Amino acid sequence: LASIEVDLAPVAAGQAIKLNWRGKPVFVRNLTPAEIAEANKVPISDLRDPQTLAERTKEGKANWLITLGVCTHLGCVPLGAAEGENRGDYGGYFCPCHGSHYDTAARIRKGPAPKNLEVPEYAFTSDTRVQIG
Ligand code: FES
Repeated sequence: LASIEVDLAPVAAGQAIKLNWRGKPVFVRNLTPAEIAEANKVPISDLRDPQTLAERTKEGKANWLITLGVCTHLGCVPLGAAEGENRGDYGGYFCPCHGSHYDTAARIRKGPAPKNLEVPEYAFTSDTRVQIG
């Protein structure tokens, strides 16, 4: 299974979904304007793995944050993609295995993980659909 197509229409602002792609979890998140602002106000020099939200999303689609759901420390699946789950100190994702906190751009901010959650290859096939892989 090389690629999957995802319908984004059911994912409301502030929500995320967890999918399976090539045997790995993938998080698709619809960031709120506040979460986008939060990500954009962080000085790049504060980041362990320096990347802007714009570099991690597609132009004009900064609200759609698509990442692997695989912690870059030792590969646990972080929390935060389902309703009510702990999103950590920076409002993104939280890996409970050893306490890595990711921000609203899924960038590592605290804890042992060395890298941001990885952004897979993907492309929009329409305004509300993406193909991952
Ligand atoms: Fe996520 Fe260790 S595997 S913090």
